[in-house]
Order: sequence, then structure tokens, then C-alpha cells
Amino acid sequence: MTQVTMTVNGKAVSGDVEGRTLLAEFLREKLRLTGTHIGCDTSQCGACVVHVDGQAIKSCTALAADLDGASVVTIEGMANPDGSLSVIQQAFQDHHGLQCGFCTPGMVMSAAALLKENPKPTETEVRAYLEGNICRCTGYHNIVKAILAASGQDVSAIAAE
Ligand code: FES
Ligand code: FES
Repeated sequence: MTQVTMTVNGKAVSGDVEGRTLLAEFLREKLRLTGTHIGCDTSQCGACVVHVDGQAIKSCTALAADLDGASVVTIEGMANPDGSLSVIQQAFQDHHGLQCGFCTPGMVMSAAALLKENPKPTETEVRAYLEGNICRCTGYHNIVKAILAASGQDVSAIAAE
């Protein structure tokens, strides 16, 4: 076992982990931050996306032991300080960007990383960025619409469902 210390959603946390413990497991099982979902064992679904030192990563692909000192943000850290939904979360709600919600934490975290990197993405850029996030319910259309809305772009050009 190794002890790791990280900042998670602005709070210092520490815990003992095995060398094989994935960041996703550390977040869910040790810290009880179960908003980070695990939807596959092949690193394909993107339900587990979090930010590590400002970069979106699939937390099922990182070992917790390698992240001593890292700053991690999960979906639980995305709300505004007063507890209200962030702009991106609100846009998902407003534009029906979720159905079962399983993919949503990863989608929101990926969207946040995209908009930080590219505040005014085109529809094509949004779709390309979401290649690593799978949604089994929505057909992606409203997710894309929500992200474009959150970016402040006019979404009227996107084909209606
Ligand atoms: S659980 Fe990480 S990509 Fe599916
Ligand atoms: S809303 Fe169900 S998997 Fe995306």
C-alpha cells in the first residue's frame, strides 16, 4: 500500500492505495465520489472522465498511486459554489442532453475541458471532441446542442430532432 495525497474538488484528501488501484476506484470507493461512473473495462466509454491538473482524462486509465500531489476535479466539483448547476450542467438540463444520465458526468467533464480549450467550438469540433464518450440513450444530438448552448453559440442552426 502507498499513501497518496491529492486535492479533490478543492479539498486535500489522502488514502492508502494499492499499486493497481485506478483513480476511478479511489474516487468512488475511498472518497465515495460516486458521480464518476465506470461504464466499461476497455477505456472506451468516457463515463469516468475527470480533470487532473486541468486536463480531462479517463480516470479508469490512471493509477491513483501515480497522482500523488495532483489536483483532481470530479463532477461533484462542477456545481457553482452556492450549489446551483454550472452553466454546462444547466445547459444539459435545458436542452435535454441526458436520458438515463449514466454517461452525463463524463460528458459534462469532457464538455468543460473542451470549452476551456476552445470556448467557441463548432458543432463538428464538439462532435469530434466527444469521440471518447459513449452515450447509449440520446443519439448525441441534444448533448451537442447543450454544449453549443453553454458555449454561448446560436444553436438554431443544428437540425431539429
Ligand atoms: S470506465 Fe473509463 S472509459 Fe469506460
Ligand atoms: S443518457 Fe443514458 S447513456 Fe447517455
